[in-house]
Amino acid sequence: MEGDGQHPAPTAPPDRPHGERLQLLLRRSREAKNCAYCPYSRFPVGAALLTAGGEIFSGCNVENACYSLGVCAERTAIQKAISEGHTSFRAMAIASDMGDHFITPCGACRQVMREFGTDWDIYLTKADGTYIVKRLEELLPLSFGPEDLKKV
Ligand code: THU
Repeated sequence: MEGDGQHPAPTAPPDRPHGERLQLLLRRSREAKNCAYCPYSRFPVGAALLTAGGEIFSGCNVENACYSLGVCAERTAIQKAISEGHTSFRAMAIASDMGDHFITPCGACRQVMREFGTDWDIYLTKADGTYIVKRLEELLPLSFGPEDLKKV
């Protein structure tokens, strides 16, 4: 598909974090994972969210004895950032203990991320620190967002 002229690949934003800034974001996601409250799944996840202004908000999954009330790490990080007045995001890194697989956000988290734009980057990591990066519009194509509500 890519390169056939009909489906141009999404272009990476110019302000993608790199170097020490990226390493910090990745480290903060791993550190957040250490705080995960996941006695039921025993599947710790950490997330670190980089705002447009350069601040990092981290989060972990927080489970509950009433299972359905558990919250993913990604949404914890977003809710922390939003509640501190930040609504513009550049990137999120996600960490888990999966050795052989990159952690990927659930569908609910993708939709919550998408509320804040489609042109930012999600770093999916393995336990060894390697990662792949995807733009949000790749993770949630043909998405529904706040702009759509204005189309009626
Ligand atoms: N979980 C996350 O926090 N983020 C993900 O990307 C995938 C899953 C959590 C939810 C639940 O607490 C546990 O991992 C098992 O699904």
